[in-house]
Amino acid sequence: MSDLMYRPRRRRRNKIIRDLVGETGIRRDGLIQPYFVCDGKGIKHEIESMPGIYRESIDSLMKTIEKDFKTGLKRIMIFGVPDHKDADASAAVDSDSIVPQAIGKLKQKYGEELFVSADVCLCAYTDSGHCGLIKNGQVDNDSTLPVLAEMAVSLAEAGCDCVGPSDMMDGRVEIIREELDAAGFTDTLIMAYTAKYASSYYGPFRDACESAPGEGDRRGYQMDFRNRREAMTELELDDEEGADIVMVKPALAYLDIIADFRRLTQLPVAAYNVSGEYTMVKLMAREKVVDEKELVLENLTAITRAGADIILTYHLRDILKGGWLD
Ligand code: PBG
Ligand code: ZN
Repeated sequence: MSDLMYRPRRRRRNKIIRDLVGETGIRRDGLIQPYFVCDGKGIKHEIESMPGIYRESIDSLMKTIEKDFKTGLKRIMIFGVPDHKDADASAAVDSDSIVPQAIGKLKQKYGEELFVSADVCLCAYTDSGHCGLIKNGQVDNDSTLPVLAEMAVSLAEAGCDCVGPSDMMDGRVEIIREELDAAGFTDTLIMAYTAKYASSYYGPFRDACESAPGEGDRRGYQMDFRNRREAMTELELDDEEGADIVMVKPALAYLDIIADFRRLTQLPVAAYNVSGEYTMVKLMAREKVVDEKELVLENLTAITRAGADIILTYHLRDILKGGWLD
């Protein structure tokens, strides 16, 4: 007779029992795939540091999304990589620029069958590569706000379902909500990048967007990764200012922040499984030191377990194509 009282292993004996007691499941409907759209025609350029992810012109983007849509991909986030950059970020508020054009085409084709969200930030549009306008050599908070709001309205006019301010200027959610409402877009969602940390994990994205700041870095506006309590201040503000969804970014090194958010707000919590996190997986898979599917499912399960309802991830296309969640 064994004198062991407790045997947790009993519940791990086989797959059917493990599945019975499994606590967390990745929500397929909570996943969003990012895309990068650029000027021109017939362009589909694989981003060197992000295998399987492309920077493409609108015609090519339409074809890529058509293929993805057939696999069940229904929720996307669009980032613009415009040719034209200047001090005022003028292309960011131009309704003829690539992102509103792409959104218009997508909405015409898919209507409510495709959820289209788009990034609101100036870094791809400024000649400095910074997320806000420069004044006296500094990234200026208050003069950037109306430009962000105008950008959000122009995206909403194009048919965007949800805008995602990723700039980290103070007060942007409030002004974006006000201007959207004033223009009649009371139903346009705001998914705020609430706790966005200054992170080395954005390296491959900046390669994709050609949006690395020419001078300096983003530590003057993005959060310091030493800070956890400060993220709660950002959460309180975005909640009060009218965010519909609050986001933590990056995801994997910030699971504690995701868990805090889950405890402290009733809003849906999103996590951005960023470019560097994607590339780490891809490089390990390429070197055959891991099983890609198993690692992706482990990462997304961990992000879900921490408390994320929504995950933005570059892996979504592979997940659906491979039937990894079936
Ligand atoms: C732009 C923006 C960035 C990301 C999303 N929006 C980069 C940055 O702030 O430098 C990062 C996304 C990723 O790494 O996948 N504000
Ligand atoms: Zn930016």
